[in-house]
Amino acid sequence: MQYGDLKARRILSLILCMAPLHGVTGRVFRNAFVKAFPGFDRAMAPFILSVDGSRKGDAHYKDLLPEYNRRIPVIPQVLSNDAPGFVSTAAVLADLGYSEVNWNLGCPYPMVTAKRRGSGLLPFPDLIRSFLELACAHSALPLSVKLRLGLDDRREIMPVIQALNDFPISRIIVHPRVGVQMYGGETDLDGFEEAARASRHPVSYNGDINRVADFDALRLRFPSVGEWMLGRGAISDPFLPSGIKGLGPPSDPIASIGAFHDDVYFGYREILSGQRHVLDKMKELWGYLGRSFGARSDSTKRPDALKAIEKATSFQAYDAAVSALFAGAAWKR
Ligand SMILES: Cc1cc2nc3c(=O)[nH]c(=O)nc-3n(C[C@H](O)[C@H](O)[C@H](O)COP(=O)(O)O)c2cc1C
Repeated sequence: MQYGDLKARRILSLILCMAPLHGVTGRVFRNAFVKAFPGFDRAMAPFILSVDGSRKGDAHYKDLLPEYNRRIPVIPQVLSNDAPGFVSTAAVLADLGYSEVNWNLGCPYPMVTAKRRGSGLLPFPDLIRSFLELACAHSALPLSVKLRLGLDDRREIMPVIQALNDFPISRIIVHPRVGVQMYGGETDLDGFEEAARASRHPVSYNGDINRVADFDALRLRFPSVGEWMLGRGAISDPFLPSGIKGLGPPSDPIASIGAFHDDVYFGYREILSGQRHVLDKMKELWGYLGRSFGARSDSTKRPDALKAIEKATSFQAYDAAVSALFAGAAWKR
């Protein structure tokens, strides 16, 4: 097979999904990203908590209102251990026009897991089962599940997969870490393989796809996986999704990043109050994006302008630092 054929096949048969990152990939980011960079087929929104359905229209659902989500199909996600609340929330999401709801069984933060939510439910397959009995019977939307291999121990996954197998779930998205690892340490590909083999539902892969070569190796090892979810890798290098699909970066990557940046920045300035709040959001984004910038003279060197961005406490200082970065930095990838 020719390399070109492989690329053409890739484009046809791959589904790439933007991972949810709470506080980062909300509607402003999603819309700006999809406008500037091709490659993603859909996006999963960061979680909302399950709430009583009578609260339709309040700020709780704002990120998911259809008028803000026209650029790419979005899958809403709910963090919950309360099945009736989940059912109410799914009913509101169905009213808003969504066709799937994702249940978060992956969130690793101790404040969440201590309440037996997110990956805190993984050691309790019986609780998962009773949640799904009610949720699957009454949810207005088909349900998918995003999960880890366990909270403390990857042996927790098998009873969970067996529980999920008993319900009509549309697919599962597996991030092959355990909760206590948070977002560091190695991914456990053997654990992913075992879970995928045992699941009767379609399985999507998520975790540490940072380069096209990472994707190629994973695709070779897991040829039956049809959907791949990318988070930090795509935020650090927004040309990664299109690269995976065989499209090269544009001739002037910095200009594309600049246009994307401005959409995010002015989008936040419109919806957030206070310079501090906007700048904190932008600094979090630069924490990822900055990894792809080098000094123009020596691309391995971190540009000083990135430091100035981190230190900025006013729009004026921030704007000056960003202009200096775009004028003096090179795209490293
Ligand atoms: C800051 C941050 C926020 C996250 N928020 C969510 C979330 O709301 N829902 C979720 O399912 N996963 C969330 N995740 C996990 C990511 O979706 C993803 O599973 C994880 O980052 C691994 O994929 P990656 O290596 O491609 O980033 C979050 C991760 C980070 C770093």
